[in-house]
This record gives sequence, structure tokens and C-alpha cells, in this order.
Amino acid sequence: MKGIILAGGAGTRLHPVTLAVSKQLLPVYDKPMIYYPLSVLMLADIRDVLIISTAEDQPLFQRLLGDGSELGMRLEYAVQDEPNGLPEAFLIGADYVGDDSMALILGDNIFHGPGMSDFLRDSRRDLDGCVLFGYHVSDPERYGVGEVDENGLLVAIEEKPQQPKTNRAITGLYFFDNRALDIAKNLTPSARGELEITDVIRPYQQEGRAKVIDLGRGFAWLDTGTHDSLLDAGQYVQVLERRQGVRIACIEEIALRRGFIDADACYRRGAALTKSGYGEYVMETARREREAR
Ligand code: TTP
Repeated sequence: MKGIILAGGAGTRLHPVTLAVSKQLLPVYDKPMIYYPLSVLMLADIRDVLIISTAEDQPLFQRLLGDGSELGMRLEYAVQDEPNGLPEAFLIGADYVGDDSMALILGDNIFHGPGMSDFLRDSRRDLDGCVLFGYHVSDPERYGVGEVDENGLLVAIEEKPQQPKTNRAITGLYFFDNRALDIAKNLTPSARGELEITDVIRPYQQEGRAKVIDLGRGFAWLDTGTHDSLLDAGQYVQVLERRQGVRIACIEEIALRRGFIDADACYRRGAALTKSGYGEYVMETARREREAR
């Protein structure tokens, strides 16, 4: 399975902060926003990831993450010229994905909660069509909204409905089999002038092959698209990290735990950031791993 992080967009709701820099490079407390979606893909054991951004931001993402080899990953980069909609990721990424399946995640989505690695890996293993992740929200009219039957299969999906039939938002993480590439090729823009991800999902839904996993109430799915939600997300991460002494979305720790890198490689990454608490944490994680061996 290949991973795609869609990290383009204009970030207009965050102006003027995003006039000169991509939203997905802004800090969410102690690390750049893109670490969060990248860590979700890593937890799903995905090591091949395509990062799609605007042309201006691409060198910055490359400076931050390089080719991924220090994390035991293989990262590649591609450009989306205009934010024409999420399915454009499948057009831009078609050659990269080849005949593989794919996980698409939005670069500004933060997921955190118990059992995440397990359900990500289970969903990946059992993929037959597509897997979506639902989340109960108080304002479903802002999102794609899904209705689900008793077997967890999607029976209807609507983009930003004025009168939502459920409170289940479909979050920005999607697992698709290879057919999504063909579906995306034949899409036409909606009335909003964009390609819509709901139009990629609908053929799967009609075949009864769109599974929805509901993220429970102990789970956090955070938005970072506005000044308030960005600050809220940072504070959420700060509260949990300070209280528990563990870091959320520490990509070096995940790479170590998943066996992508060894303790020495993890330590070197931490030592390069030694003046920050983040770097200290990465070094300490590596030390503990060495002791445990
Ligand atoms: P949005 O929040 O819908 O758009 P945006 O990031 O441009 O922000 P704003 O609404 O303030 O202008 O996008 C959600 C995520 O998906 C975000 O990480 C950007 C990404 N995205 C793209 O990369 N390309 C696209 O064509 C779209 C629609 C979104």
C-alpha cells in the first residue's frame, strides 16, 4: 500500500499566517503539522509516501523531511498547482501508486486515540473496496456526511449537506483499492467547481464495498483549518504530552517502534535536535530501546 499526504491548498482561512508558508508546515505545539498525518501512515506500516504540495512549498517540505531514509521511509514529492479537490491526488499520484492500493490522508488532519495502530493495520489487511473513518461531530453540515447500515457499510454519502441525516462526518483518511485511480480519471467537477472525494466513494458504496469504521468518543479527530482550531489542536497536544510525558506523532519514535530504524539511527535524529525537548525525547526513546535489548 502506498501513502499519499495531500498538503496543498491555499489555507485562506488562516490568512495572513499562510500567505508565505504552507498551513501544513505550521506548528501544532512542538512539531510541524505534517508530522501528524505522516505518523498515521507510519502506524499503518506504510513506508512509501507521496507528499503533494504547492510548487512554492515543495522545497520546504523536502528540507524538513528529505527522502525519508533517516526514518526508514521512502518519501517522494509532487505538485498540485491549484486546489482542485481531493481526488486530484489520484490523478497526480497515479504513476506513483501504480497497481498498488493507497491510503490518502489530508495534511491538516490530526488523529489521536487508543488502538489506532491496530485498527489501521486491520483495515489495511482487510481492504476490499474502500475503508472510511467516521466521527461524530456537532456540526456535520461542514463535512462529508455518511449513513451506515448495521454491518458498518456506507449506504449514502453527501458533501456538506444543508440538512444532514446523521452526525457522522467522514474524516480525512481514506483507504482505497487501485480502482480509485480509474474512478478519479472519469470525474467531473461539482457545482462548487471542485472534484469531490464523495464522487470517488459513491461507486464503492453502490457496490456495498465502502466500509466505515467509527472512531469512538475516546478518540480525537482535530481540525486545524482556522486560527482557533489550530490553537485548540496545539493545546490538546500540549496537555496530553505534559501530563503523560509521551509525545504524540513523534515520527522517530514510531519509526523505531515499527522497526523502520534501529536505536542508533533514532538517537542520531534526536542528537541533531538536542536543544529542544523534542530532541531530548527522541534521544531518551533511543536510550530506553537500547537498554531494553
Ligand atoms: P481545506 O481546508 O479544504 O482547504 P485549505 O487547506 O486550502 O484551506 P482554506 O479552506 O482555509 O482555504 O483542505 C483540507 C486539506 O486538504 C488541507 O490539508 C489542504 C488539502 N487540500 C489539498 O492539498 N488540495 C486540494 O485540492 C484541497 C481541496 C485540499
